[in-house]
Amino acid sequence: MNQETPVIYLAPFQGITTYTYRECYSKHFPFVDKLYTPFYSSVPTEKGNASKARELEVLQHNHIPVIPQILSKDAGEMLHFANHCHQLGHREINWNLGCPYSRVANKKRGSGMLPHPEMVEEILSGLMSNIPTKLSVKCRLGYHAPTEIESLIPLFNQYHISELTVHARLGIQLYKGAVDWDSLARVVDLVQIPLVYNGDIFSSEDYQTFSRQFPQISRVMIGRGLLTDPFLPSKIKGHSVPGLEDQKILVKKFMEDLYLSYRKHLNDRLNVIGIMKELWANLTFGFENPGKVFGRIKKCHTFDEYETSVAHVFDEYQWVGSDAQLLKTFGNNL
Ligand SMILES: Cc1cc2nc3c(=O)[nH]c(=O)nc-3n(C[C@H](O)[C@H](O)[C@H](O)COP(=O)(O)O)c2cc1C
Repeated sequence: MNQETPVIYLAPFQGITTYTYRECYSKHFPFVDKLYTPFYSSVPTEKGNASKARELEVLQHNHIPVIPQILSKDAGEMLHFANHCHQLGHREINWNLGCPYSRVANKKRGSGMLPHPEMVEEILSGLMSNIPTKLSVKCRLGYHAPTEIESLIPLFNQYHISELTVHARLGIQLYKGAVDWDSLARVVDLVQIPLVYNGDIFSSEDYQTFSRQFPQISRVMIGRGLLTDPFLPSKIKGHSVPGLEDQKILVKKFMEDLYLSYRKHLNDRLNVIGIMKELWANLTFGFENPGKVFGRIKKCHTFDEYETSVAHVFDEYQWVGSDAQLLKTFGNNL
């Protein structure tokens, strides 16, 4: 097993790990080492999307660095984004080569670019001699086949990508099916740059199993597991964590703070409830009876209904945190 302290990053989620979420999460749970923005498709302007433009000005939340992410297949656009981020003070940007959704992948963007090493080479050769920031990459093993990444790694090595995060699935799998550690093992043999693992770490036991098999990898990016159990990074790092009843009180405080922050930032617009429901779709798996918990939250349409349901859930249901069995079922049903 890996003896180094694990380094843990919060995975980006469009619509969930927003500015408000990152700010609030890092205040209540300061144990991750990097936060990523959900992807930008270009440089946001004050006129086009003022809040997205302003969010990019934030370099860290509660002392945890924020890495801006770009989804693009255009070296010029990426350079423009990198220059803009650099001017704001960022020192790293992340290139999204993992997005699996067909509307993105069919245009050879995100994971849709993985079968095309010639495109990746063209972009890196146009970008890397001028880029003022580090460039890290988040990708999958491939779009159609897990061998696709093997043609890309020599490029990532050659162009000194600062960190390579690999989600150990294919684009066509979306988030379903098992993660492929056999193919990941081949990646480990080829990379000469720091490697970050991503995929299905839902509990500290999952991390330990992973770490026993891949003792050379101490950096992990965690998504759904952390959205479900906000204590997961502390648990993996071996920090002392309160008992389940006290955890529930802290999770409740965090969710209240997040809800009030959203109401403030969104001027009490009712779409706050939709945003909170997205989060509850994950958090519910930290409770003993996820189906009932989410059923209760899902039906809310007003602030009063939401507040009553949340109070009921925290009063009536037991918090179990990162229960690997429940979460695995959930992971495969996304
Ligand atoms: C709704 C949703 C939105 C996502 N948005 C992004 C994104 O903007 N950028 C990105 O790199 N990955 C995105 N992802 C992928 C996650 O960052 C992560 O790689 C994935 O959930 C697998 O990690 P996990 O098994 O730890 O959850 C998204 C995933 C989902 C389900």
